[in-house]
Formats: sequence, C-alpha cells, structure tokens
Amino acid sequence: METTRIAGVEVSRIGLGTWAMGGLEWGAVPDEAGIATCLGALDRGINLIDTAPIYGHGRSEELVGKSMRAHGRREAFFIATKAGLEWNDRGVFANCTEKRLRQELDDSLRRLGTDYIDLYQVHWPDTRTPIAETAGLLAEFLREGKVRALGVSNYSPAQMEEFRLVAPLSSNQPPYNLFERQIDADSLPWCTTNRVAVLTWSSLCRSLLGGRVCRGMRFDPKDIRHHDPKFQEPRFGQYMTAVERLATLARERFGKTVAELAVRWMLDRPGVSVALWGAKRPDQLDAAVGATGWTLDAESMAEIDRIVAESVIDPVGPEYLTPQVREG
Ligand SMILES: NC(=O)c1ccc[n+]([C@@H]2O[C@H](COP(=O)([O-])OP(=O)(O)OC[C@H]3O[C@@H](n4cnc5c(N)ncnc54)[C@H](OP(=O)(O)O)[C@@H]3O)[C@@H](O)[C@H]2O)c1
Repeated sequence: METTRIAGVEVSRIGLGTWAMGGLEWGAVPDEAGIATCLGALDRGINLIDTAPIYGHGRSEELVGKSMRAHGRREAFFIATKAGLEWNDRGVFANCTEKRLRQELDDSLRRLGTDYIDLYQVHWPDTRTPIAETAGLLAEFLREGKVRALGVSNYSPAQMEEFRLVAPLSSNQPPYNLFERQIDADSLPWCTTNRVAVLTWSSLCRSLLGGRVCRGMRFDPKDIRHHDPKFQEPRFGQYMTAVERLATLARERFGKTVAELAVRWMLDRPGVSVALWGAKRPDQLDAAVGATGWTLDAESMAEIDRIVAESVIDPVGPEYLTPQVREG
C-alpha cells in the first residue's frame, strides 16, 4: 500500500469510506459485514477509515468502534470523522453551532469507543456560522486532546483561508473522480500550494466507476443512486459509454479493472493525498490494492480525458448532495 503523511502520521493513500455501511442510503449492511470490511481494510494495508455521524445516523461510527475493539490496537487505525451536519424528517442541514459541535464530538467519541479522533473534519461549511468561530472551537478540541488534527470538507479556498487564520488546517475532503473534477479549478491547486492534504470523496463516482454497474441497472427507491442525476437517462447511457471504453483501456493496456484504473488516476493527480474508497464487504477492497504500485503515463492520462470528453456530452456534478441551510 502506498502511504502519505497527514499531520505527521503515516496513512494509506487509499482510505476506507464507511458511508455505505451505515446502511441507510446504499442498502442494508449486516454488522458482521461492516466490521469485516474495516478489519479487511487493515489486512490490506489501509489504516485510514473515514466516517461521520450522518452515515447511518451513528451506525457507521459504531461499526468502526466495534472494529477497533475487535482488533484490539486503537493506534493501528487512523480515524477521520466529521461534524456539522444535523438531520430530521425534513432533510439534512449544515449546523456548526458550538452547542451542536460539542455534543457531536462527545457522541462520536462514545460511538467510536475511543478517547481521541485522529482527524476531525467539518463536514460542510455552515453559511450561518462564521468560519472563524468554528475554527476557534475546533482549536479548543485540539487543546483538550480529544482530536489530534483538524480538517474540513467541501470548503472553498476562501473558506480554508479563513479557517487557517484561526486554527491549523491539515486536510480538505472534496468530491473528486474521473467524472467530477470541479476542484481542478480551485481547491486542489490551493491545497497543493498550501500543503493541505486532500482526501477525495466518491473516488468511484458512487459506484459508476466500480465496474459492477451496467446499462439499464435499476436501484431501490431508497438507494441514493435512484436519485443521483448521473444514473438517469439519457446521462446514464453517456456515463456507461465512458465506463465501457475506460474498462477496455484498463484491461488492454494495463491488465487492470476500470475501478483500479479510476483510482490510479486519482492517486496520480498532483495534490491528491488519499482516495476514499466506499465499501460494504472486504472483497470490494481487493481492487483497492490493485490500484496501487503502478502509475499512468501521460499518453494514457490524455486518452482517459479524451474518452470522458467524447462520451459524456451532458456532464453533471455531485451538487445534489449539498445539505440545506439550517432553519434555526
Ligand atoms: N465529505 C463528504 O461530503 C462526503 C460525501 C460523500 C462521500 N464521502 C466519503 O467518501 C467515501 C467514498 O465515497 P462514496 O461512498 O460516495 O462512494 P464511492 O467510493 O465513489 O463508491 C462506492 C461504491 O462503489 C462500489 N464498489 C466499491 N468497490 C467495488 C468493487 N471492488 N467493484 C465494484 N464496485 C465497487 C460499491 O457499490 P455497491 O454498493 O453497488 O456495491 C460501493 O458502495 C464515503 O464512504 C465517505 O466516507 C464524503
């Protein structure tokens, strides 16, 4: 497994994403499968595990906690969790108020069964709470020893600048994959210049680049992909054309799968520190190992760009996942 450093700690360049194992938006995942996936990640050299209170409304963090207890060595894991999203029957809202964040930190520590979090990330900017206030509060958490490094997610360069004036910023977590490259224009170069680690979310574009999704595939109405605009025709067909052509390139030129190619592409992008790989079963992580230990040449990079540009004529980003502005 390739590694990098975040806040001085050596971490795997592929991180396990545990949104799906929360069991709410991607179909049910039994406890045993979630725990086996976390432990299977460690077996494959993946020590960074990304979670959040919103994933399964606490369940994902609980499964990560059970995995750490089953393993026995807390320090074998680098746990990245998040704060600042609340949910109710009207939806999901950004909320970085002090009351909310203090409660969330205690809840996360309890669910994870640990006395410290390796990387504590603001999940989304809350436009109703000044960023300096959020950063100041997180700096207190650092001083209290409850968290060891601070990160943000879905922040713009201007928002990261503001945060950094008040507290040390170790990472940003934006969406990034072969099909969703908005950060190339701003936050990726900003993070590279300012030595802020980048952990990419939806590295497989929410399974589109996993190799299992095929034309005409239907998802349960409760599955996030049922509503994802990329999975609706006529766009779905365009994305599938790209995936099929990328799969041929991966196989013929490198003897790899499309998932391995897609994540290798991420790892070769300047400024990307860690690609988060969402999984519900340990065997899904075998391809994560296959994405490491090789590189893409400039000609293949250019061909990938050509395939995507020719196939996807009506691209759409992940904006539908943006939380709402809070009410109170
Ligand atoms: N900060 C944020 O705002 C934010 C937002 C989204 C995600 N994230 C983080 O990023 C992580 C990863 O992103 P993501 O969950 O959106 O999805 P992703 O990594 O882009 O895709 C995950 C899906 O790909 C499929 N897959 C995985 N391994 C595969 C394999 N070997 N072969 C075929 N298909 C495979 C699985 O689909 P099936 O379920 O169909 O098997 C899996 O659920 C999340 O878990 C979370 O930690 C953060």
